[in-house]
Amino acid sequence: MFVSFEGPDWSGKSTQAARLVEWLRGEGREVVATREPGGTPLGEAVRDLVLHGVEMSPWAEAALFATARAEHVAALIQPALARGAWVVCDRYVDSSLVYQGIGRELGVDAVLGLNATVTEGLLPDLTFVLLLDAEAAAARSGAELDRIERADEPFRRRVADGYGTLAARFPGRVVALDASRTPDELEEQVREHVRRS
Ligand SMILES: Nc1ncnc2c1ncn2[C@@H]1O[C@H](COP(=O)(O)OP(=O)(O)OP(=O)(O)O)[C@@H](O)[C@H]1O
Ligand SMILES: [Mg+2]
Repeated sequence: MFVSFEGPDWSGKSTQAARLVEWLRGEGREVVATREPGGTPLGEAVRDLVLHGVEMSPWAEAALFATARAEHVAALIQPALARGAWVVCDRYVDSSLVYQGIGRELGVDAVLGLNATVTEGLLPDLTFVLLLDAEAAAARSGAELDRIERADEPFRRRVADGYGTLAARFPGRVVALDASRTPDELEEQVREHVRRS
């Protein structure tokens, strides 16, 4: 079972991913907890480049995320799923659809095409999207911003709105949650959907 968490910066993805992992492990399941960009040595190197490196063109950015994702799927996610483990991933392909496809205006279909190729079509079984408007997200932000978090206000708004349209586009896989609820309420909603899946 492959579960991903999505949403704009500071929407609570890491909080909910960690809570789900803890719960599943408590139930005795093998769980691989991972994140994007990252998850492998190559992925972590790419993470450093895209989040803390130099400015780059939109397709260069999309291609770097796809590079990290290709390695992540081949080296970690696919082998884990093949042996029956659960994979809980903090961001996956939907982040590229929204940040590069909508935020950088490359087009969702074009970015999906690239990612479908490099992941051999691997999509999560279940994706939780934490929806939070740009203002509420900014109110939670920390002091140190990475390169993408420093993006301009119209970009951030496109990302926040883009996640809303994603849930409508992939209704079977994507579950939209109101990220302004408390962490405990969200955790219970996540468990409920996982129990039913
Ligand atoms: N449901 C919630 N309500 C209010 N605050 C929350 C909630 N969930 C998380 N937070 C707080 O918001 C901040 C961001 O949470 P978290 O790191 O889980 O978000 P994230 O989506 O993983 O962020 P990033 O995109 O930076 O990785 C943290 O300070 C966290 O404690
Ligand atoms: Mg996080």
